[in-house]
Amino acid sequence: MTSPSLVRASASTAPDFADTAVVEWVQQIAETTRPERVVWCDGSVRERDELLRGLVRTGTLLQVNPDLRPYSFVARSHPEDVARVEDRTFLCTERKADAGPTNNWEEPARMRARLDELFQGSMRGRTLYVVPFSIGPIGSPLARLGVQVTDSPYVVVSMGIMTRMGADALRAIRPDTTWVRAAHTVGCPLEPGQADTPWPCNATKYISHFPESREIWSYGSAYGGNALLAKKSFALRIASVLARDEGWLAEHMLILKLTSPDGKVFHLAAAFPSACGKTNLAMLQPTLPGWSVETIGDDIAWMRVDELGRLRAINPEAGFFGVAPGTSTATNPVAMDTMWGNTIFTNVAMREDGDVWWEGMTTTPPSGLVDWQGTPWTPASGRPAAHPNARFTVAARQCPTIASDWEDPAGVVIDAIVFGGRRASNVPLVVEAKSWEHGVFLGATISSERTAASGGTAGELERDPFAMRAFCGYNMADYFGHWLEIGKTMRARGGVPRMFQVNWFRKDDDGSFLWPGFGENIRALAWMTERIRGVVRARDTALGLMPLDGDVNLDGTGVDAGTWAKLNAIDLDRWRAEADSIERFFATFGGRVPEALYRQLHRLRDALGDP
Ligand code: GTP
Ligand code: MN
Ligand code: MN
Repeated sequence: MTSPSLVRASASTAPDFADTAVVEWVQQIAETTRPERVVWCDGSVRERDELLRGLVRTGTLLQVNPDLRPYSFVARSHPEDVARVEDRTFLCTERKADAGPTNNWEEPARMRARLDELFQGSMRGRTLYVVPFSIGPIGSPLARLGVQVTDSPYVVVSMGIMTRMGADALRAIRPDTTWVRAAHTVGCPLEPGQADTPWPCNATKYISHFPESREIWSYGSAYGGNALLAKKSFALRIASVLARDEGWLAEHMLILKLTSPDGKVFHLAAAFPSACGKTNLAMLQPTLPGWSVETIGDDIAWMRVDELGRLRAINPEAGFFGVAPGTSTATNPVAMDTMWGNTIFTNVAMREDGDVWWEGMTTTPPSGLVDWQGTPWTPASGRPAAHPNARFTVAARQCPTIASDWEDPAGVVIDAIVFGGRRASNVPLVVEAKSWEHGVFLGATISSERTAASGGTAGELERDPFAMRAFCGYNMADYFGHWLEIGKTMRARGGVPRMFQVNWFRKDDDGSFLWPGFGENIRALAWMTERIRGVVRARDTALGLMPLDGDVNLDGTGVDAGTWAKLNAIDLDRWRAEADSIERFFATFGGRVPEALYRQLHRLRDALGDP
């Protein structure tokens, strides 16, 4: 670590080791945005403490009762700045076809002109913070560097948790380093004497990505995925383009380490769409004796094929930005333990005793709550106390189940890739892919059923390929092709990991879940390891390889033979309709979907037979 005196939070000149290109870019942004001062962040504890105290002073953060949860804070955002804004998220590539049908496209020159105008003077009266960061352990061959400038100190402290932020990252940027430029402003300049608000932001928002020049420009929001540009914007959208160009994978996946009772270790990477259980699976507490699960990452995986043809994965993040509502000592005790202190909460409710609360934390709400906007709340208020997208931001190293090698610069060798969605019907509990191509087909067709609550027609399928629909920085049809290519590279050097599909969310006719889920999911994972070891056979079905009765240990789950049959039922008529829906989805890419995936679709149809 550098001596903090070199680059103190109050300093305004660049540290002498800063690369000239970084210094020039910061100067350029400062000339456009006209901040009152420029601060180069060093990532020290002292700097963090100063920032947090400043944020409490300005009212952006409230301190949680330190006797109950030390060094923790609550942010209440502007009521219209509470989530990612997909309709304001843009991909700016020279050719529209390179963005594909799943992204909002804009011509780079037009977007640049618009942003130039918006950024003019946008930081007046504020501080411009320079936030150098590494995604992945500094020095790992899989890690990448970036610099975010921002006028939000809340963003700085959050980036300090989610990335390796500070002087060491800045030092790693050399004249020949490719680094990502990430410019962020809340778009809320202050006139002389004008009082600030606790959560400055702008009604106009642009989250713009320029993958061809490796740049991100974010305007108007201070919230999570819109403003912590190292996360979804860089580690997924820009990184997926780097990965395409350089032959690796940047994925919306958790990574976990699974140890069997006889001491054999397996690493799994799993892609589920947002709010479909990644953080929960990464922190799973097995109900089967003798098994253990350790956490490596809960949201993003970067993976590269090594010389022996093995897929090696790192968690590029340093923290968790998890959904708070629904998290409790019953559903995810590991997450609850992780946030014992040193945690920033956003849009949660507060208790009378000064601690935090959200829906699902306890079965009955305590009395005397104040909601996420600071208004007194009772169950009769008719609105949630915590915002449904309330989050906790906490360092991964605080997680009691974090694997000892979670920061290994070489990454861990992935034994299995798992895809899942939220499907009330059709999709069985666990299916093994018959081949890499079949696995890519399963990933490309991940779907969730809309509920009445999520709008649209209830039961209507929403395709979220590889859980990356909102995060792929190029045409997703080409992305499917990239996955097929990675498989070829691995096969040429050795072998490919197994691939599986899971569904924890299948429902009975009465609307109740057929599968107990959470800690019981270990039973499906255990079956996967037995398939990998080659100690159990499988049933060849139209959908893939499925467990033989008795091979998934159900002791103590309460899942009887009838329920097991429902969990594994394949309704041919409904699957024929599903094949039609997949074909319609593929058609949205206008002939760009690789032939191999159409072959998989034809195979599925053949196996289903004629009605
Ligand atoms: P993002 O962080 O937004 O990408 O979402 P995520 O994939 O990490 O989702 P998370 O783990 O936060 O889970 C979201 C919801 O799924 C919560 O309401 C959980 O209670 C629920 N959930 C997770 N695992 C299971 C399970 O095995 N069974 C059931 N029924 N629900 C689950
Ligand atoms: Mn996510
Ligand atoms: Mn999560």
